[in-house]
Amino acid sequence: MTKTTAVTLNEPDAVEQRVADLLARMTLTEKVGQMRQLSASEGYPPDYLAALIRAGSVGAVINQADVHIINELQRLAVEESRLGIPLLVGRDVIHGFRTIFPIPLGQAATWNPELVRQGARVAALEAAAAGINWTFAPMIDVSRDPRWGRIAESFGEDVFLTAALAVAMVDGLQGDDLSSPGSIAACAKHFAGYGAVESGRDYAATNIPENELRNVYLPPFKAAVEAGVATLMTSFSDIDGVPGTANTFLLRQILRNEWGFPGIVVSDWDSIHQLQIHGLTENDWESAFEAVTAGVDIEMAGEVYANHLAALVESGRIAIGMIDAAVANVLRTKFQLGLFEPPHVEPAVHPSPGSEHALLAAKRMAAQSVVMLKNDSRTLPLSIEQLSSVAIIGPLADAPYEQLGTWIFDGDVALSVTPLEAIRTLLGDAVEVRHLRAMENSRSRETEAFNEAVEVAHACDLAILFLGEESILSGEAHSRADIHLPGDQAKLVERIRETGKPVIAVIMAGRPLTLANIVDHVDALLFAWHPGTMAGPAIADLLFGRESPSGKLPVSFPRMVGQIPIYYSRKNSGKPPSPDNIVHIDEIDAFAEQTSVGMTSFHLDAGYTPLFAFGHGLSYAEFEYDHIRTGAHTVRIGDTVTISAELTNRSDIAADEIAQLYVRDLAGSVTRPVRQLAGFQRLRVEPGQTVTVAFRLHTDDFAFYGRDQLLATEPGEFHVWIGGSSDTELRTEFRIVASG
Ligand code: NOJ
Repeated sequence: MTKTTAVTLNEPDAVEQRVADLLARMTLTEKVGQMRQLSASEGYPPDYLAALIRAGSVGAVINQADVHIINELQRLAVEESRLGIPLLVGRDVIHGFRTIFPIPLGQAATWNPELVRQGARVAALEAAAAGINWTFAPMIDVSRDPRWGRIAESFGEDVFLTAALAVAMVDGLQGDDLSSPGSIAACAKHFAGYGAVESGRDYAATNIPENELRNVYLPPFKAAVEAGVATLMTSFSDIDGVPGTANTFLLRQILRNEWGFPGIVVSDWDSIHQLQIHGLTENDWESAFEAVTAGVDIEMAGEVYANHLAALVESGRIAIGMIDAAVANVLRTKFQLGLFEPPHVEPAVHPSPGSEHALLAAKRMAAQSVVMLKNDSRTLPLSIEQLSSVAIIGPLADAPYEQLGTWIFDGDVALSVTPLEAIRTLLGDAVEVRHLRAMENSRSRETEAFNEAVEVAHACDLAILFLGEESILSGEAHSRADIHLPGDQAKLVERIRETGKPVIAVIMAGRPLTLANIVDHVDALLFAWHPGTMAGPAIADLLFGRESPSGKLPVSFPRMVGQIPIYYSRKNSGKPPSPDNIVHIDEIDAFAEQTSVGMTSFHLDAGYTPLFAFGHGLSYAEFEYDHIRTGAHTVRIGDTVTISAELTNRSDIAADEIAQLYVRDLAGSVTRPVRQLAGFQRLRVEPGQTVTVAFRLHTDDFAFYGRDQLLATEPGEFHVWIGGSSDTELRTEFRIVASG
């Protein structure tokens, strides 16, 4: 028996040679084994799993996070299987492992790729210390429907922001070199279009025309592939009648042929078997055929490949070359991860979870993720010197588990610092803190404690309400049709409002909520998503002015659910709305003519704007943009152009601002969005300082998939805007002309 020995694999050729060498020695059973990932959640490897690993019939496991058990699983594979091929050990490490970072939607609100990279690095280090070598992040489904529970796991509605953060997260998880200590394989998911599930209902079908797919849903995946993401997961959802797991167009034509992806494609959980449930196949035999033909290399948590792949080859239905190509993808990744050298992990050599560094990174990210949506009369920041008592009210003020968010299998709840704790620590004895939960949870309809809440608020200088959704209300299979604050929270706000005391709301949630019913009843509003382990210290610092809010919305907040999908980069239509050509339903005259109510693209009862726009977010500083200019009015294809503006901090507070660049291509072979984010920068601006914000763009940056579905920059007129939100009006223009 020849086992695989440790080798140094600096050269890609050396990897390919080792892959070919191993493949040549593998039986069909062993090959199919490499295409199979089984759950290892039962603790110490049960006999059946140990036997399968010894037989070389399992190449990957999922859902084990105990280093001792993982070491034993690897020992079985390396020492007791014929060829000694180590296992891929997968786990959903989505926004932290033990130390929990903000949910990805909150991470996106930082508009800070470097922080996202650092957070992913911490997560990778902690997970690698447990023997995990593969995670299923980043989720980079462009998400424009806040009803969808999985919007929490996404980077929001925008193509450019999602792509930038996808690259940052892949970099953080994989490091410079997949084989270096603390690097784990990332997985771009879910390929593709899952964010467009009908009515935000999880797992439902999607309807995405090819041009929209190429221009909106695929670019983040292309960016992740270009950044070297090691693996990619298929989507549960159906697109154009073919679920992601059987979608040859997506997996072969686009991913492999057009983009040249060399890594592993993994199915989602049991999604090969589900092809039959979708109604695409009649049985598992056909499902195995469809998935392997489409290019799914590993089946996650199912038996379909194990039961049918060998027979499909032996019957001549599929060629062995198809299996070999899939197994080569798996082995290549295992070599690149350095698993052959060997995979045993000594826990002590890795940084301990919850280290000072990890907690600091989590706090920094949490603080930058909070978006201040409202701050009337400068209610915030609060001044400790001017306060004698504060009422802290609401179900999420002291909820260490709930603040962590959706994907926290291994999150250490004992590390959580809640807002109540952090505010008490910050205020010490200087200010009295009175706390009342008032509701058992966010969904509660019990209003009995509201009277006491009113009394507490009444007795204090001001009230800070911690409201929102518990983590269970968002995430996979946790979609909502009504995205108001759940339960009787809005009533609680109204009751506290009656006290006449300043009311500050801090909302933690896994999605945008419809806030029109409470926004007028609060003086200040911080939207904190689910901020993770360090929610408390981050929020306390913001409330008491140790730091200015600097998050910006990565997704539009609708006024009402009926507006969904509402996103800033919409198409213009032939009858675009504007403030002058829309009417509100309450303003329609009794005897109005049918044609007197606008005849443009809007809702009579909601207009056409969101409650809070993509990119919006207030600061304690006051920022002003002016003097936008373009480096050239005519730009040849192949050249670059610099767009710049002046940004001034008109306040006496130093703060970060996120300057945003938007573009519009006025006429194309296919219609283009009214605006598209094309650049952003997080800048520290000192009091009174003016900085020049400059964006240098190549004409390739204006390319899109045209009527022929090919990527090209089309000559013509472009509008560009710079500002602090997607509704900025500061604009200039230039023209792109053909080269030569
Ligand atoms: C199903 C989810 O769709 C996917 O995102 C996740 O990675 C897998 N389950 C594994 O838990």
